[in-house]
Amino acid sequence: MRVLVTGGAGYIGSVVTEELTGQGHDAVVYDNLGKGHVQAIDRETPLVRAELADRDALCHALSHYRIEAVIHMAADSLVGESYSDPQKYYRNNVGAGLSLLDAMKDCGVARLVFSSTAAVYGEPEKQPIEEADPVRPTNPYGDTKLALERALQWYGEAYGLCHASLRYFNAAGASRRCGEWHHPETHLIPRVLEVAAARRDFVEIHGDDYPTRDGTCVRDYVHVIDLARAHVLALGLLDDRSAIYNLGCGGSGYSVLEVIETARAVTGREIPLRFGPRRPGDPAVLIASSEKIRRELGWDPQFQQLEAMIGSAWAWMQAHPRGYDSTGD
Ligand SMILES: NC(=O)c1ccc[n+]([C@@H]2O[C@H](COP(=O)([O-])OP(=O)(O)OC[C@H]3O[C@@H](n4cnc5c(N)ncnc54)[C@H](O)[C@@H]3O)[C@@H](O)[C@H]2O)c1
Repeated sequence: MRVLVTGGAGYIGSVVTEELTGQGHDAVVYDNLGKGHVQAIDRETPLVRAELADRDALCHALSHYRIEAVIHMAADSLVGESYSDPQKYYRNNVGAGLSLLDAMKDCGVARLVFSSTAAVYGEPEKQPIEEADPVRPTNPYGDTKLALERALQWYGEAYGLCHASLRYFNAAGASRRCGEWHHPETHLIPRVLEVAAARRDFVEIHGDDYPTRDGTCVRDYVHVIDLARAHVLALGLLDDRSAIYNLGCGGSGYSVLEVIETARAVTGREIPLRFGPRRPGDPAVLIASSEKIRRELGWDPQFQQLEAMIGSAWAWMQAHPRGYDSTGD
């Protein structure tokens, strides 16, 4: 299949692109490189450097490369920033997202895999979270993702667009070539590894009095390669139907302290930590159930252990000490 990957120069999108080409598909990356890295894209893979809101550029890319399906990863995705600058999030994640749907409609491309988020569930009433559970996002980021999911449903009914929305919490780990290199970095695992690499002094833990096994928050992590495989797998269902799937680690999640302990074991380094107060709005536990995608599509994640996620992220960091800035690969 010929697949356009929006956000394909970003952390997860670059691994999705790698997975697509590895499975014999033709991938084209569409990215403005605002947060993405040209070094994350294989030289054989075409890059269209353009804005998602640029409908003409999108239409040109869709028709020029005779695209058959789109995997939509391009978005702004920092929860904190979405509170302080909701306009940016609604414009990019909803407004520009709609320009993609319109361009697909104009060009007759009727298959879309959407990288959504488990933040659409807000503060869930039960764990693990299932797809039929209520969606009540508690931040603008989650709300913008839900808005596009809703648009997909109506575009699907009216225009025959087949779509799969994938909802997940925390991507983690790296492939051999592609890793996580965000500025600023807000995700726990790379921040912990930055402390191990002596680029940061300590890890701050927000709260140690949650009703969890060690008092710190418990979260769900999915290896970025397993995520990429789920996105490619979801393409296969889009001939005549649409669906929503959660992607989760499948067990009881990992606490913040467990992440730090595992990182100490994997790296063999000191990782100093400090406890701070709870952050408002942080639920004690967030875990997504993946039963539906396992049952319906046979998704079979290979790297569910924290050691595999942290080990691959550490290996990538060691091989790219200044991230994509230094490698030239
Ligand atoms: N990282 C996670 O843990 C996580 C969890 C759940 C969902 N997601 C979703 O997965 C997707 C990818 O996340 P990521 O961590 O790889 O983010 P990222 O910031 O590394 O990648 C996003 C990419 O999209 C591009 N982009 C953003 N806006 C664009 C625009 N208007 N036009 C063109 N390109 C644009 C950026 O340049 C970047 O390369 C996002 O949609 C995010 O909401 C991520």
